[in-house]
Amino acid sequence: LTQTKRRNRLLLLGGGGHGRVVADMAELLGWTGIAFLDDRWPDLQSTGDWPVLGVISDAARFGETHPAAIVTVGDGATRQRLSGVLRGLGFTLPTLVHPSAVISPRATLGQGVVVMANVVVNSYARVGDDVILNTACTIDHDCRLSDSVHVSPGANLSGDVTVGERSWIGAGAAVREGIRIGFDVVVGAGAAVVSNLPDGVFATGVPARARPPKL
Ligand SMILES: CC(C)(COP(=O)(O)OP(=O)(O)OC[C@H]1O[C@@H](n2cnc3c(N)ncnc32)[C@H](O)[C@@H]1OP(=O)(O)O)[C@@H](O)C(=O)NCCC(=O)NCCS
Repeated sequence: LTQTKRRNRLLLLGGGGHGRVVADMAELLGWTGIAFLDDRWPDLQSTGDWPVLGVISDAARFGETHPAAIVTVGDGATRQRLSGVLRGLGFTLPTLVHPSAVISPRATLGQGVVVMANVVVNSYARVGDDVILNTACTIDHDCRLSDSVHVSPGANLSGDVTVGERSWIGAGAAVREGIRIGFDVVVGAGAAVVSNLPDGVFATGVPARARPPKL
């Protein structure tokens, strides 16, 4: 393989539905040799149109053939841990942005971020590493999203919202401007977040009410 061809080969860790959406987008963006690692291997030999080559702990063996890798696991804690492992092994974690997404030139995106179709990120928003901005969510001006956050499809973050590490904003949730959401928070689908949320809570409903996580 030539140097250029080798650089374009992408390994994805986690072969579920989210992984297949990322693979589909990566192909559109010109990545080649797209392949997965998944702990269901060897039972799972392929996912969608792509091969599964081994389990996740095999990653080190693929550094030569696939210098770029992304963790395609929805759970923030797992994604954060595995992304750290990949960086330690010397992989590059690229940021993939769907061509239909609108990203302000004044917004910043970290590494290992995936931005799905029809997302909008407005000016001066800052998005950390390994974040998932899922289909058609909007991140408005001056928002700050820490590492490994996941904003689900169709969720809307108004201006100047802060979201702590690993927090997960459910599908179609709406967050009022200036709200502070802590780390390891889960915001349920369709919730309206109109007051700050402390670390580690689940919050659901309209208006969203926080409750401790289920054990
Ligand atoms: C909030 C959430 C994580 C709770 O999941 P859970 O802990 O498994 O909760 P359960 O399904 O056992 O429901 C517990 C209770 O909360 C209620 N509830 C669950 N999700 C709710 C939501 N989004 N809004 C309002 N109430 C909700 C249930 O009706 C149930 O109420 P009950 O005890 O009166 O019957 C989940 O329902 C959710 O909204 N996840 C987000 C899904 C999503 O956005 N996916 C996108 C993936 S890309």
